[in-house]
Amino acid sequence: EIITPYQQEDVFPGEMRIVLRNCGVIDPEDIKQYIGQDGYKSLGTVLTELSQEEVINMVDESGLRGRGGAGFPAGLKWKFTNQAEGDEKYVVANADEGEPGTSKDRLIMEGDPHSLLEAMAIAGYAVGANTGYIYIRGEYQLAVSRLQTAIEQAEEMGLLGENIFDSGFDFKIKIREGAGAYVCGEETALLQSIEGERGEPQVKPPYPPNEGLWGKPTLINNVETLANIPVIMEKGAEWFSEIGTESCTGTKVFTVSGDVEKEGLIEVPMGTTLREIVEGFGGGIANGKEFKVAQTGGTSGGCIPKDLMDTPMDYDSLAEVGATLGSGALLIMDETHCIIDVAKCFMHFFEHESCGKCLPCREGNTRMYEILDRISKGEGVLADLNKLQDLADVMSNSALCGLGQAAPTPIMTTLNHFKDEYLAHITAKVCPTEVCKDLTVE
Ligand code: NAI
Repeated sequence: EIITPYQQEDVFPGEMRIVLRNCGVIDPEDIKQYIGQDGYKSLGTVLTELSQEEVINMVDESGLRGRGGAGFPAGLKWKFTNQAEGDEKYVVANADEGEPGTSKDRLIMEGDPHSLLEAMAIAGYAVGANTGYIYIRGEYQLAVSRLQTAIEQAEEMGLLGENIFDSGFDFKIKIREGAGAYVCGEETALLQSIEGERGEPQVKPPYPPNEGLWGKPTLINNVETLANIPVIMEKGAEWFSEIGTESCTGTKVFTVSGDVEKEGLIEVPMGTTLREIVEGFGGGIANGKEFKVAQTGGTSGGCIPKDLMDTPMDYDSLAEVGATLGSGALLIMDETHCIIDVAKCFMHFFEHESCGKCLPCREGNTRMYEILDRISKGEGVLADLNKLQDLADVMSNSALCGLGQAAPTPIMTTLNHFKDEYLAHITAKVCPTEVCKDLTVE
């Protein structure tokens, strides 16, 4: 699905732009325009005035948490990588944005590639790495070419390469393109893929800060996480920590799509409610229809029904309602969607994308899909609901990686919030929205 390109005139009154600050403002293929917006100033300050420890403390005190979806404290990761023993270390930007309904990283890289490069160089200095890799979705060809241009321009100006800012610090960045596997966004599979191996998740621990690329200490951060870094260095940890909520600081970029009047990307302080996003930025539900459900975090997040629309969109508030913020995808659906059909669609995706390495994910997704398919055809029985719960428990507790662990979440949240709709399909053999055409309605 094509998401409307980010336009400067689309600024929504409640927006606060940190990571999207330059998107639509500068020509991303001209380094001078980035420099004109104080670009690479933070790198200069870091390399000439700050110790590694001071930089890490700033990231830590800012409260920045991982924007790939899991929300792990970035400062801790930086600290672990810095403290790990190793003759060589790496920084990896996870740009394999595979979550359906998410295109924030694409827009950051297309609109402001230098902010990612600058952040990676700052991270390299802080953790003691001289090489960075950007592992990017192969489909993101415009972003690849803009990043390539940006790297060349930065190297020409001595902002990447050897002895940057005469500090004695060297940093090179290489691009590696993914080949379309969703699982390669999982960090250990991603590292395998860079190494030229089949992209399959590995058991954690060891975590990448201790044993990452080629077994060396590796800092791996999402693009959006990194794009915050130059601004945190410039404006300070305290400034950043006052934005958003106490435990989830800063902003979050949401990719809003589906049945809203206006689709696109929005950057708002953490804790902005779903209602504010849907009714404000999204302009409400299109065609005079009613809001039914929002799917957070693309396929792996969870669903939010109408009575939870005032839930603040941040890691902790969403966890309280059994969902996850994930990558910041918000798929908005109106009353015409059948919840079983939606759940089936998600499960079909996971069944297709499971790498097959571990049994709970390989079998669990297929069995869950089969059950949902039966229910949608009016062939479900009440015992299927317990089977779905059992499969979800096994998968979330024993799948090898986040893909298999998270796959049941969207299904179980639809079951929690829309049990009546499941029961209508199973006991009355009726699809209330009349989407399930195969249903045997007498
Ligand atoms: P995770 O919770 O296992 O790890 C998150 C990060 O914290 C990892 O980098 C991990 O290495 C680090 N970490 C955790 N404990 C650590 C420790 N003790 N020491 C050092 N580092 C530690 O989660 P995972 O599986 O990496 O990511 C799951 C998330 O990814 C979900 O929230 C999901 O929504 C999101 N996701 C995002 C996608 C996207 O396109 N952005 C696609 C699919 C999933």
